[in-house]
Amino acid sequence: MKKFLNLGKQPFANKYLSKKELLSKKKEQFYELQIGFDVKSKLVSILNTVSSKKMFDNKYPYRSSMSLTMRDSFKELSVFIKKKFKPNLILEIGSNDGSLIKHFKKDKALCVEPCKNLAKITKKKGFKTYSEYWNKSLAKKIKSKFKKIDLIYSANTLSHIPNLDSVFKSISYVLSENGVLIIEDPSLMECLKKTAYDQFYNEHIYVFSLISIINLMKKHNLEVFDVKKLKTHGGSMRYFIKRKSNKNLRINKNVQKYLNEELNFKIDKFETYIKFRKRVEVSKQKLIDIFHSLKKRNKKIIGYGSTAKSVTVLNYCKINNQIIDYFVDTTPDKTNKYMPGTHIYIKKYHKNLLNNIDYIFLGAWNFKKEIFKKEKKFIKKGGRFISHIPKPNII
Ligand code: TMP
Repeated sequence: MKKFLNLGKQPFANKYLSKKELLSKKKEQFYELQIGFDVKSKLVSILNTVSSKKMFDNKYPYRSSMSLTMRDSFKELSVFIKKKFKPNLILEIGSNDGSLIKHFKKDKALCVEPCKNLAKITKKKGFKTYSEYWNKSLAKKIKSKFKKIDLIYSANTLSHIPNLDSVFKSISYVLSENGVLIIEDPSLMECLKKTAYDQFYNEHIYVFSLISIINLMKKHNLEVFDVKKLKTHGGSMRYFIKRKSNKNLRINKNVQKYLNEELNFKIDKFETYIKFRKRVEVSKQKLIDIFHSLKKRNKKIIGYGSTAKSVTVLNYCKINNQIIDYFVDTTPDKTNKYMPGTHIYIKKYHKNLLNNIDYIFLGAWNFKKEIFKKEKKFIKKGGRFISHIPKPNII
């Protein structure tokens, strides 16, 4: 693994602090966020991982149902899955608050969600939910009860698990002979193209590329038979995977097409990551300059969408509560809390909180379209957004 980026001392993203925690003598935990590239497997990953138990507990705040974009994406996918694959039983690894699984019949779906606060939500809705980490022992437990799982789906989850070989071994163990695995995660090429270094934080152990997924699958006698590009999470890839032995499904020409795109981009070359590091450093300085020049002119700045991604940006660029007055967010478990590391207060979203504000830092840049549509009035009144993607800019 060759290191190419150091994003400095970072707190745990998604560990929003209550007032009590903020004032407590117990020090907030930090780690050094370093990122590397494996020349052989082509995997990009963070180098010093944090234990899953510390990250995914009974207070995990992220809710996939909080944005219309994600709700629509899951709905559309559920229609497609039912039509194309007609699964008898679907297993979702990392079911969060059930935004995808709710589109399936309760007797045809299984959820795996280690965060107990989220698992509670799907359990309450009547879905069989295992509130456990995905591993071989859970796979064994599931297989002993359910013989034929013909579709496994996992979005923004497998990239959070350190031991990928164990993850895919366990998947292969429960997946039926002609079963299909669908995974989706942020795309490395999009992350590199947009200088979206905030895709890196303690939970995102990996940022996958098609080439790295193809290499990984080979080890498990699995293969990618289709790929789809998605707009979600700032540009994601959805990989459709089957057993090599399953000849019923043909390999779509998209696989080679997108692989060629990655190779043309030199995603397999270390030099690409060195260039990325240089762009990240420029991006940092530009963003700092924008904030400082606005503050010098006494402009009032708030943040919109207290994302885990923005935790990386704000801590890396050292933008704190002296610069951003507060964040607004709709997520219940984030509001009335403080941003990790920078301690910027998060208020429950209300449109009035945007009154008399000059600039808004777009923490949730991946929902730019949805947010701009919602905040037409703010823009019309002369309000402006600050975004660091693809380059630090005032929009
Ligand atoms: P994510 O980028 O990690 O998916 O998080 C998006 C965050 O932005 C999440 O905390 C919800 C928040 N958000 C709002 O507060 N209002 C909105 O209109 C949208 C789209 C997101």
